[in-house]
Amino acid sequence: MTRWPIALLVSVCAYAAGPTYTKDVAPIFFKHCVSCHRPNDIAPMSLLDYKSTRPWAKAIRTSVVGRKMPPWFADPGYGHFSNDARLSEAEIATVKTWVDGGAAEGDAKDMPAPPPMIEGWQLGKPDIVIDIGETYKVTPGEDAYEHFVVPTNFTEGRWIRAAEIHPGNRKVVHHAHVLMVSNNLKDMEVASTGNMPSLSKFLIKEGKLSRIRQDAPVVNDACAQNLPNLPFLTGFQEGALASFLPGRPPDVFPSGTAKWIPPGGKLEFVIHYAKVPNQGETDRTSIGLYLAPAPPQRVLRRMDLRNFFMQIPAGAPNHEVRRCYEFEKDKLLLSFTPHMHYRGKDVTYEVIRPDGKREILLKVPRYDFNWQLVYRLKEPVLVPKGSRMIVTIHYDNSPNNRFNPDPKQTLRWGDRSEEEMMTSWIEYLDAKPDGPAAMQTSEAALRR
Ligand code: HEC
Repeated sequence: MTRWPIALLVSVCAYAAGPTYTKDVAPIFFKHCVSCHRPNDIAPMSLLDYKSTRPWAKAIRTSVVGRKMPPWFADPGYGHFSNDARLSEAEIATVKTWVDGGAAEGDAKDMPAPPPMIEGWQLGKPDIVIDIGETYKVTPGEDAYEHFVVPTNFTEGRWIRAAEIHPGNRKVVHHAHVLMVSNNLKDMEVASTGNMPSLSKFLIKEGKLSRIRQDAPVVNDACAQNLPNLPFLTGFQEGALASFLPGRPPDVFPSGTAKWIPPGGKLEFVIHYAKVPNQGETDRTSIGLYLAPAPPQRVLRRMDLRNFFMQIPAGAPNHEVRRCYEFEKDKLLLSFTPHMHYRGKDVTYEVIRPDGKREILLKVPRYDFNWQLVYRLKEPVLVPKGSRMIVTIHYDNSPNNRFNPDPKQTLRWGDRSEEEMMTSWIEYLDAKPDGPAAMQTSEAALRR
């Protein structure tokens, strides 16, 4: 036998055995991509069929091999997360080989059934639906952050076992949060008690938005000894109800837990509207609330840790801001959501236990404002009373940060995306079940 037929045979076999869209690649995309990459959703193209996928093959290879897609930013060296979005090495290899081999379609009979595309409520019909109270007209050509405060009209408090934010128009709603109104910067002063000065002293209000005054005292390291008496540099603030992010599942609270909405409570929708080219896009986002059948054993809570008094110098490439928290009781930590704006660069959550043992629970080495990800711990982490959490955030306010709207600005805390924030939302349970006292405890916490 001569040599060349064997070579030909080998190459034909390799070709025939190479991955195809229908058989090998579509299942990966259906599992990891199409929650965003489908018609009328946030991503630029659908990956639900070969025809719309094929022109993107090269870009898909780049973003998959470079782990840019799906979006996920936790350093794999620390912690395990139940919503870890990363593809496996084998999945990446399949996509790469598929593109390198010519991105073949394959046999139509190999095509898997598309995943069910839920247009309405993913969790089924909610018990209560509350919307933003108006049909909002999106201004074309600009990103916008809008706040809508609406009454619940609850005459009695309600326990909520799940909450689903339903974007009114998926093309324009980039992400959204729904908060109990006491989380609003303007209302924080209500929560300032004891000898803590009121936050309003340090605020400038412009319409719906607020910011910290340029001449307010500066504390970048809120972990330092002998802190000045300023609002919310220690302890925590009670956090929001639910969040929506493209591709993120709705907030379903762990079994046996629930969140409490007090009577007369108001909800604040904070919605980021993405830039759209055309006139005429409108939105009416809503939240579906699912009632718990009975008061829970444990109250699902969120503690928000902020440093309102940071100041980021103009041009600073790696400005550090810290916030610490001393555990006043044993807590089971469930999730972390870091929140900064365009200058946010990285964030680390570290715990020092009473025996001196240090542990990094989450490290996000490359924060991206476009993706407001939640990192849900695979197993709750028990942190005993007397432990200390250190949140360390770096900001890049230099011209090298391509998202930076203006490196010449000295930044304080502010609602607008062009200003900055230093917030961490941490979901937790008290380690001891709350039992029947749960409701009172929760109300007391909200009044704090
Ligand atoms: C959580 C939602 C989400 C998921 C999940 C997701 N994407 Fe994306 N993807 C987006 C959005 C939004 C954009 C456009 C903005 C951007 O590029 O960041 C995008 C952009 C892209 C681009 C275009 C990049 C370019 O060159 O312009 C590619 C290619 C891509 N995604 C592939 C994938 C693949 C493949 C998967 C699954 C393995 C995936 N994405 C999963 C939301 C998502």
